[in-house]
Amino acid sequence: MNFPIGVYDSGLVGLSVASRILQTLPDERIIYFADTAHVPYGERSFEDIRVFSKAIAGFLIDKGAKAVVAACNLSSAVALDILTDTFPQIPILGVIEPGARAAVRAANGHPIGVLATTGTIKSGAYQNAIGALDRSIPAIGRACPRFVPLVESGMADSEDAASAAAEYVQPLLEAGCRTIILGCTHYPFLIDPIRSAAGQDVTIVDPAEETAAELAALLLRRKIAGDGLDSAHEFYSSGESSGFMTLGSRFLGRTIAAVSHGDLQGAK
Ligand code: DGL
Repeated sequence: MNFPIGVYDSGLVGLSVASRILQTLPDERIIYFADTAHVPYGERSFEDIRVFSKAIAGFLIDKGAKAVVAACNLSSAVALDILTDTFPQIPILGVIEPGARAAVRAANGHPIGVLATTGTIKSGAYQNAIGALDRSIPAIGRACPRFVPLVESGMADSEDAASAAAEYVQPLLEAGCRTIILGCTHYPFLIDPIRSAAGQDVTIVDPAEETAAELAALLLRRKIAGDGLDSAHEFYSSGESSGFMTLGSRFLGRTIAAVSHGDLQGAK
């Protein structure tokens, strides 16, 4: 029961998903992997993402993870099938299906807009997941290549961020979207400019919230929920880890005192 929940992302920002999981499941222990050797994932080939994701999930499971959450949208979009095939004994959750479910619930039949990286939009994963839930709801994807660099460079409050948000959100509003999915781990950090561009009447869905709720239900169903007796979270990084503790602590909302190197044997 007190085995950890493995969570991974291309970088540090997925710690905000881990934070959401800990808010929902305070008795759980997290083991987090940041693939800093390969970040950003957004413009890489799907094959690369599959290789990295498989190596990371294997690493987390070797460390005792009782469940794995792919916090990264692109990895969830293109690698979830290979992960569930490779590790059938461990429940593995992505963020796409929970995000799509929350959006369809909120959409009331209106089109749903999806903001995501180029790769996630190209994969069609959100569009397919929404279509599988309700074929009558159009899903309109919008690749947002300006967003990740803005968050990475600490410019989430800048005029550039406001203009990027307006550029990406406006076509979704024109298409009649009343619900917008933040389909990338970085985008919740742009909630202010996105909200300003979208207006107050649009529902903005952060898939992390629904993912945490689905994880909670899964742990209960399988009777593997933690009992809070062990809260020694662990943090791994495949590459550069300077800044992990300061920046990572901000994303996680609690202090990260140590980061270890995580070797992804052969995943170059
Ligand atoms: N973590 C990725 C995602 O959620 C975005 C950042 C990246 O491109 O690495 O899709």
